Amino acid sequence: MTPSDEKLIQRIDSYLEDMFIGADPVLDANLANSRAAGLPPINVAANQGKFLHLLMRIAGAKHVLEIGTLGGYSTTWLARALPPGGRLISLEFSPEHAAVARQNLKAAGLEGVVDVRVGAAADSLQAMIGAGEGPFDFVFIDADKPGYVRYLELALQMSRPGTVIVGDNIVRNGAVLEENPESAMVRGIQAFNAAVARHPRLDSVGLALYKNTIDGMSISLVK
Ligand code: SAH
Ligand code: DHB
Ligand code: MG
Repeated sequence: MTPSDEKLIQRIDSYLEDMFIGADPVLDANLANSRAAGLPPINVAANQGKFLHLLMRIAGAKHVLEIGTLGGYSTTWLARALPPGGRLISLEFSPEHAAVARQNLKAAGLEGVVDVRVGAAADSLQAMIGAGEGPFDFVFIDADKPGYVRYLELALQMSRPGTVIVGDNIVRNGAVLEENPESAMVRGIQAFNAAVARHPRLDSVGLALYKNTIDGMSISLVK
């Protein structure tokens, strides 16, 4: 991409965000608190957050699983889409990130509907399967990329026909096009995309979406 292509995509993205997403002091505070706490700015973009929010409402999702909380920015978009009685469980490895997220979710008035669980996601998911949790109506996978294939398989064990599964960061500014990438992150995403695309229980699409660079999300419907 030339710098002028990039500038155009950025202008289009800002236009769409300004047009479709209103001012939101709660989400602004979430990002400010996360930045002040030293968390990396790797939350979804506002457009992506609203996209997830609308997908959840379109799916009528009431029981939601997120893998990778960070400061709870995507969590807030998702939790706001819950109907009365709905619940969201968000899995996070870092106790520091989880503490920031819990504070942010409390400030957003969402502490009663979100359960942030600390631990390695694969362990938390195994424990949930063992405890008979689920099925979930909607799953958002956004933690460490080498774990994605495993998270997909574990999430599928807590899914039903009609469950929607979304994976973040499936493009990585085109790094997924590399043939033998050195980055474990990129290799993890390539394996995830292939697993999603050929999975017998899933009907899926991959979408390129913009945030600082071109990234994307997979959207799958469990058959
Ligand atoms: N969903 C968030 C961004 C998540 S960033 C948003 O859009 O706002 C990825 C998060 O996954 C980080 O907070 C990181 O600490 C967490 N993570 C990394 N490895 C993990 C693991 N093995 N299990 C659970 N979470 C993990
Ligand atoms: C990274 C992780 C993410 O989930 C994301 O949306 C962007 C970047 C990262 O680890 O670099
Ligand atoms: Mg992400």
